[in-house]
Amino acid sequence: MSSNPAIDLIREKLDIVDVVKDYVPELRKAGRNYKAPCPFHNEKTPSFTVSPDKQIFYCFGCNEGGDIFTFVMKIEGLTFPEAAKKLALKAGLAWEDRHFTGLSPADRENLEIKKALAAAAEFYKKFLFSSGGESARLYIGARKVNKATVEAFGLGYAPPSDNVLTRELLAKGFSKDLLVKAGLSGLRDSDGSPYDYFRGRIMFPIRTQTGTVTAFGGRILDSGEPKYLNSPETPVFSKRKTLYGLDRALAGIRKTGRLLLLEGYMDVISAHQHGIDFAVAPLGTALSTEHASFIKRYAKDTIIMFDPDIAGIKASVRAAEIFMEAGMYCRIAELGSELDPDEYLNENGPEAFAQKLADAADPLDFRMNLFFTNRTAVSSQDKAKAIDELLKTVSKQGDEILKSLWVKNIAARFEVSETSVLHQLKTPGEERKPYETSNPQTMPALEMGFIQLLLKDPELLACAQELEEQDLSHPLARKMFSEIKDLNPEERTRAPAALIGKLPEERALIMELAVTDIPSDLDPAKNAAQTVKMLKKKSHARRRKELSKNYSTLTASQREELKHLTELRGKAGEL
Ligand code: GTP
Ligand code: MN
Repeated sequence: MSSNPAIDLIREKLDIVDVVKDYVPELRKAGRNYKAPCPFHNEKTPSFTVSPDKQIFYCFGCNEGGDIFTFVMKIEGLTFPEAAKKLALKAGLAWEDRHFTGLSPADRENLEIKKALAAAAEFYKKFLFSSGGESARLYIGARKVNKATVEAFGLGYAPPSDNVLTRELLAKGFSKDLLVKAGLSGLRDSDGSPYDYFRGRIMFPIRTQTGTVTAFGGRILDSGEPKYLNSPETPVFSKRKTLYGLDRALAGIRKTGRLLLLEGYMDVISAHQHGIDFAVAPLGTALSTEHASFIKRYAKDTIIMFDPDIAGIKASVRAAEIFMEAGMYCRIAELGSELDPDEYLNENGPEAFAQKLADAADPLDFRMNLFFTNRTAVSSQDKAKAIDELLKTVSKQGDEILKSLWVKNIAARFEVSETSVLHQLKTPGEERKPYETSNPQTMPALEMGFIQLLLKDPELLACAQELEEQDLSHPLARKMFSEIKDLNPEERTRAPAALIGKLPEERALIMELAVTDIPSDLDPAKNAAQTVKMLKKKSHARRRKELSKNYSTLTASQREELKHLTELRGKAGEL
């Protein structure tokens, strides 16, 4: 396959079974081959096969296959030279980058980006300990993060001034373009001059499981906005695929088989400082299916512990469902206080915290506890509604045995018959209809609320001058918005009826929106203006995501657009 003697030597020294086992500990001998559940897709029966004779792997389920190099590239998201370097080290061979020629331009650029990010991390770290870093050191101290933790997580500080980092990296030979691509610099609209993307922030390097820096999170020192600024998506960084703290946690996760999923950077850092070395966090976004399939490879016992607010509770239920859909078991832990994990640890110490982890509940029990907390009498209707909600979670459970246990538990706790719970599970409620683009059930609440406002008073269109059809994500919302705009003055005086005339199939939805009350104390104009602002923001976020996903293929004007959107976000605060 290769005529490079260095590559051949690595191949000779390493056995693919050992290499794969590092990542897939559950690999078991089956005849001449080895088998395990596939690390590249979700499955229950193992179709991932490793052949020691041929020194290859293959999955009969997803058709992924190749040799040790392909395996490491794929599973760690590395370029060929990075994978080779890693394998050379494992084989006990010395390694130099210059062994490689014939890199693809994209590989070359990705390596450059990672070099620039590593240099930036060094720079931020040095600046933290310079005279300019005093306020940051004080802040870190006040947050009770000790020196060893600062070192372990590579924390740093970005100078508050305009472009110190950019100048330093330009002087090191990185191009302006590359620094922009790496998410370290931005270019000014006026004259194209570069500025530092992160300024005056505590810097948290975001690293891969092997410690390569791919992005940063930056926290402001005071109460400014946004509290955290993350690197944009780049060719080497995707939020959906990244977990903060993984490089520090992987050993602990392997050792204990446990993984603790927390919400924030500071929570992870604090956990590790208190000896809870199996903690990681998503990057301020929801848990993704990619996260789940990664976690599944390493952890047998996954515990979710999010902040004790409504958003945190919702996010933990959602995360639990994603784990279930990936065929995993997980538990949800609660601290039973107002404090987030970081504050709790500093206040109560690791033993109390460990007890809360031990007490973590099964996701269904967690939800039932929520329902029964602070409730003395429960009406039959409330019960029925709650059961229907809970069954949404149950229906996501891939494990049939667990599913039937859950049905039993619901029946017992709500004092209803098991048959009725089972029956309800098998005849799904409205929300469990299959996804369909024009189905009003799938319309985001914000968009539905907006249409409702317009239906009640089409004059509110005046608040929506800057809103375009494309700013709405749901096809039906777009259609309704456009039809309402086209109503003539006479039709506007009887908007619901006029709209039904234009969209007869949507009669039921239009009627419902027209007759139900708007659950807001705001006056309609204020409410509409605010809704438009939020719709615009969401639309920007979608566009930004779409553009940065295809970053390498963008035209110059699309890159301009992305830059503009990113700056807008910086100003408005993300999330
Ligand atoms: P501290 O407030 O410093 O204790 O941080 P925290 O980690 O406890 O933050 P919090 O619980 O408020 O938020 C959890 C995570 O959400 C953070 O670690 C970030 O990843 C993310 N996050 C919070 N605020 C913002 C924001 O303004 N913008 C972005 N992009 N992410 C945020
Ligand atoms: Mn916090």
